[in-house]
Amino acid sequence: MPKAPIQKMFDSIADRYDFLNHTLSLFRDVAWRKHSVRLLKNRAPKDCKLLDLCGGTGDFSKTYSKELGVPQLSVVGDFSYAMLSKVNAKSKELISVQLDATKTPFIDQSFDVILNAFGMRNLLDTAQGLEEVQRLLKPKGYFLTLEFFSPIDVFSRFFYKILAPLFIPFLGSIFSKKKEAYEYLVRSVLQFLSVKEYQDLAERLNFQCVSIKKMDMGIAYAVLLQKLEVKS
Ligand SMILES: C[S@@+](CC[C@H](N)C(=O)[O-])C[C@H]1O[C@@H](n2cnc3c(N)ncnc32)[C@H](O)[C@@H]1O
Repeated sequence: MPKAPIQKMFDSIADRYDFLNHTLSLFRDVAWRKHSVRLLKNRAPKDCKLLDLCGGTGDFSKTYSKELGVPQLSVVGDFSYAMLSKVNAKSKELISVQLDATKTPFIDQSFDVILNAFGMRNLLDTAQGLEEVQRLLKPKGYFLTLEFFSPIDVFSRFFYKILAPLFIPFLGSIFSKKKEAYEYLVRSVLQFLSVKEYQDLAERLNFQCVSIKKMDMGIAYAVLLQKLEVKS
């Protein structure tokens, strides 16, 4: 799907987004975010400058603050104004910025930690998104991705190819009347990279893979990357 329709799609489901996220995942999304940010424990600096890219309604950065302490600066960046409009009701310390994740307005090396939950899959060009993260991170900064990657093992293939296409668009249409958005969700997982392909791409773009956490038999993964220092 080209950029403008994706933006419109997220604008159209923003009101029911959190509710459907929790319902369709049986609240596993809450646990996935929590387990993911814990990978940054004892790694992220206490006075961290944090960017939640494709941050939507701000749940990932909110989980970060709850688990690891409130960062010095916490920015939620997203291109959907409707999604961002929910951020402030959740937490006053979060600053919302409407932006395109592949071309952000920030100067080089602005952030210690960048988060991205379920956003990389939506970018038109994953490499461009990773390159922008690379530009925005300070040396040795961390990039944490939580994502539904293209399934590679038996259970996750069964889940995404057989189960998910049956129940996700159906429930999505009942609760949000936006069946296409939830058909897109399943399709975008199958069309995305596998976790191994994502790791390989990140390593080619000067990241080191610190940790990969498989959750719920491969339905979701957390990938923690660290920006390598450029050798002179
Ligand atoms: C599935 S939602 C995830 C939201 C949130 N991170 C979470 O954990 O629930 C994906 C988000 O990515 C945003 N998005 C997709 N492509 C984007 C882009 N190129 N630039 C900025 N935001 C984008 C959408 O507007 C949407 O809010």
